[in-house]
Amino acid sequence: MSRTPRDILVTSALPYANGPIHLGHMLEYIQTDIWVRYQKMRGEKCTYICADDAHGAAIMLKAEQLGLTPEQQIANVKQEHERDFAGFHVGFDNFHSTHSEENRELSNLIYQRNKDKGYIVSREITQLFDPEKEMFLADRFVKGECPKCGAADQYGDNCEVCSATYAATELKNPFSTVSGATPIEKPTTQLFFDLPQFQTMLQQWTRSGTLQEGIANKLNEWLEAGLQQWDISREAPYFGFEIPDFPGKYFYVWLDAPIGYMASFKNLCEQRDDLDFDHYWSKDSKAELYHFIGKDIINFHGLFWPAMLTGADFRTPTGVYAHGFVTVNGQKMSKSRGTFIKAETYLQHLNPEYLRYYYGVKLSNRIDDIDLNLEDFAQRVNTDLVNKLVNIASRCAGFIKKKFDNTLADSIADPELLKEFQDSGDAIADFYENREFGQAMRLIMALADKANQYIDERKPWVYIKQEDKQEHVKDTCSMGINLFRILMVYMKPILPVMTTDAEAFLNIEALNWNDKDQPLTNHILNKFKPLMQRVEMDKVNAMVEQSKEEAAAAAALKPKAPLDPNSPLAQEPIAEEISFDDFAKIDLRIVKIVKAEHVKKANKLLQLTLDLGGEERIVFAGIKSAYNPEDLEGKLTVMVANLAPRKMKFGLSEGMVLAAGPGGEDIYILSPDSGAVPGMRVK
Ligand code: MSP
Ligand code: ZN
Repeated sequence: MSRTPRDILVTSALPYANGPIHLGHMLEYIQTDIWVRYQKMRGEKCTYICADDAHGAAIMLKAEQLGLTPEQQIANVKQEHERDFAGFHVGFDNFHSTHSEENRELSNLIYQRNKDKGYIVSREITQLFDPEKEMFLADRFVKGECPKCGAADQYGDNCEVCSATYAATELKNPFSTVSGATPIEKPTTQLFFDLPQFQTMLQQWTRSGTLQEGIANKLNEWLEAGLQQWDISREAPYFGFEIPDFPGKYFYVWLDAPIGYMASFKNLCEQRDDLDFDHYWSKDSKAELYHFIGKDIINFHGLFWPAMLTGADFRTPTGVYAHGFVTVNGQKMSKSRGTFIKAETYLQHLNPEYLRYYYGVKLSNRIDDIDLNLEDFAQRVNTDLVNKLVNIASRCAGFIKKKFDNTLADSIADPELLKEFQDSGDAIADFYENREFGQAMRLIMALADKANQYIDERKPWVYIKQEDKQEHVKDTCSMGINLFRILMVYMKPILPVMTTDAEAFLNIEALNWNDKDQPLTNHILNKFKPLMQRVEMDKVNAMVEQSKEEAAAAAALKPKAPLDPNSPLAQEPIAEEISFDDFAKIDLRIVKIVKAEHVKKANKLLQLTLDLGGEERIVFAGIKSAYNPEDLEGKLTVMVANLAPRKMKFGLSEGMVLAAGPGGEDIYILSPDSGAVPGMRVK
């Protein structure tokens, strides 16, 4: 008897429409896609939706910077995002946009219902205003000195040096990163979502038991600290939805972003007869709703979103599943190291299923960060997928083809071993269901070892030469193929394309989970084609190199006044005017970096030996966070040659090299055009 399938709606966070998808994002979409594919294979009715998160000041300014309308910008990015997701075989049932009619209607509805119940309040507050751009400035568009520690160049919400949080109006010497102007304070009326009214509801929801421990703890911390009203409106100019009864003000991007989940689903319901919006979203819905997100956006999904849904008489999520952040080679993804790798760049060099497998191996249901170690990545894929898994099929297929008309034996040689493989399915299924993909992979690879061992022990390559052992060989290889087929069932959520190729080789219909229980006997195979190539480290390195070049090129293309607050080149105000004579006093010279070394105990400095065309200088430069010394050697750059020598803790610095950028990884030394030689004066 077949049971009724579960109705499951699954989402991944909606990527911002102001930048490309990178391998950090891909962790989330791969994790979700694996889970969804697993549910579908099990026969559940599982629907996976996503969309671009298209609103907000950042996107508006990005479009302006590119000379596009926001609509053009988000259309371009949507195309790129969809291309990249498809490239990694992420199988959304729908990919929509938050800038859509469905979303506008739903956002208005949810706002109106919350307002009718008294959950929306309006208050006058003071905000920073850019008098040149004539716009109110979001926290990320204001910089200044930290009110606590005085550190320069800090954003309007928190200090990256001392971690203090404060209001943008508290910054000392603030400036607008949009125009460089000094902002003024201006009173304005804004709308707030009255989150404190949901304290009890959220406490109950948090303890309902479906949340990960890490998330529940985090939410509890916030709940205990006391909830604050949430500012849901923004001043024009803003790219978003204008608030119906509040002309000139817009919904804050984070109000309509999660509603984008509903909107994308609604858009899909309009295309499909078998999906009913209310069945999934009504207050008494029996369907399951899961949000896969990164750990940085837990507050939005664990507080505001369930509260807003409750206030508007919709259901709350069944589960919110957060994952950690991707690091590469043990460090934060870095543009200068070439480890800020775009999905598109990866796909130019490597098979997407390598990464799906590697992330699969690394994923659990906890919030720990996940390291993509590139050496380990190559080794892991080669050992497990190529040497173990595919090897089972390739070592059996040849004999079956050459000697046995490509036909499998009509019985199973080792029913016990077959049963062990079949019975492992329940444990593997539990691992998938609970998002313990790493554990699933370990169990599957242990089975692959067993399959290889079985073949090793029965030595088909020896017995193939003996006339009276032909049945033995046929039985062994048929058994091997059957074990391989079961493993393909288990790997299918992770490797959708390789398993499709395997299905073609096995000459079978698309595998579902229960197909593991019916072995293939007396069955004709198709021609075997290699199912997966080895990862070559050369290609991995080429990908890193290309990423470095892309980052450098993108930095070079940045306009003089970068408008994106995430830009490494966030603008500094122009300094006081000087005369030509003042300028002429500065002796700038082309130099060659002949040596670059680490300085013991210095966190920021590299010691550079510079050749000025005959003369050598030692200069200490604060560029360690952005450059590896070995990458600098041999490069030409520009130095201030007549700067008074400065005695530093580590020695005498005889000048200064020129570099741009706010600091950290985002420091770019200047390099002259070809033809320049050491010693030339820069005028
Ligand atoms: N637009 C919001 C989400 C709105 S959901 C209603 C957003 N967008 S994002 O593009 O910045 O991130 C999309 C998802 O990718 C988030 O869940 C985020 O946590 C995740 N990741 C972004 N960088 C990541 C890593 N380096 N590592 C792992 N996940 C990362 O947030
Ligand atoms: Zn500070």
